[in-house]
Amino acid sequence: MASPGGTPAAEGSPTPSGLARWFGECYGREPDLIWHAPGRVNLIGEHTDYNGGLVLPFALARGVLAAVAGRGDGLLEVRSRQAPREAASVRLDRLQPGSVTGWAGYAAGAAWALRTAGYEVPGTSIAVDSDLPIGAGLSSSAALCCAIVSVLAALAARAGARMPSRTEIAAMARSAEADYVGMPCGIMDQSASMLCEAGHALLLDCGSGKSSLVPIDPAAVGLQVVMASTGVPHVLADGQYAARREQCQQAAELLGVAVLREVTDVSALTVLPDPVLLRRARHVVTESSRVAQAARLLRAGRLADCGGLLSASHASLRDDFEVSWPAADRAVEAALSAGALGARMTGGGFGGCVLVLLPADRRAAAKEAICGALADGAAEAGVWFLTAEPAPAAREVWVSR
Ligand code: GLA
Repeated sequence: MASPGGTPAAEGSPTPSGLARWFGECYGREPDLIWHAPGRVNLIGEHTDYNGGLVLPFALARGVLAAVAGRGDGLLEVRSRQAPREAASVRLDRLQPGSVTGWAGYAAGAAWALRTAGYEVPGTSIAVDSDLPIGAGLSSSAALCCAIVSVLAALAARAGARMPSRTEIAAMARSAEADYVGMPCGIMDQSASMLCEAGHALLLDCGSGKSSLVPIDPAAVGLQVVMASTGVPHVLADGQYAARREQCQQAAELLGVAVLREVTDVSALTVLPDPVLLRRARHVVTESSRVAQAARLLRAGRLADCGGLLSASHASLRDDFEVSWPAADRAVEAALSAGALGARMTGGGFGGCVLVLLPADRRAAAKEAICGALADGAAEAGVWFLTAEPAPAAREVWVSR
């Protein structure tokens, strides 16, 4: 995957045939199958997924390609075009959580999750390629896990196994990250990668698992959704994310509910004795209601009116949930002062990028304002701007003849 601060390449994006060629150079044969799984942008609904709440992400065109071919020696070998010297090889019957670390741990975790769910995973060679920047909050790890679970499941299905549903694949990909790698994420990113459709956002109720597609076409109304890097890579496995989950769970227990989503009225939170827990819970309750409002506005064709909800989401993440970071706060303010309709940090927090909703003719001004606001250090890290257009979910893109 690209370096955290690197400009995501517009041209030179990976292609199935390019990956098939590289696979041949690595393994001396052509792959059997290649799948693509996209990264995601979360329009709104941050830190609500593991609280049983609503999220509204859409899939990006950028993502991870994973190519596979079976092999007879019981080994899982994984290679990435972004780290060609770091091939990892592991015996499938010895796969244990944590036994493979670094980026290859996600791939090993995907195979482990499939096996744990009862799927046969024979010896396999895997090669991956990606145009998603890592640590940008665009779900490169979920896309990697979804691509590998999907392609391994499809390979097993060719040999007669049942192909799991997209929801089942999302759950296995989440398990790879949460139970194998040890990052206790929710289900939003994997669901976006597996369930989205072009031209739509996914309204997902993470409590019931029910989802529906909501049309979104920024260009049709003269708008853009832009992701702007802040030059600060995010690291979710550093304990802050897990600490927020823990605080939400504590608040839910004190309120006598299974998950915070069950609370709909902020006035019910005043019984929380600890002001920190109260703020955490208030974010979750208010954010869920913002997601519902945003979905209603989108269904009414009123994307522009979502701007205020995005900015309110940022304020809540900054002040109540305390997962924003100074560069994101500066970028959001700069974007708004340059005419954006709304802006907010996106993803788990503590680094990554900001999402900006703006009229297309404000893009250049917003970029200039954000670059100016981040001038110290972020400029060297390479601030990039990426227009996010709702793209399709994971799919098979190559089959051997
Ligand atoms: C990360 C996690 C998601 C979600 C977001 C915050 O992206 O992987 O499950 O919790 O943070 O909304």
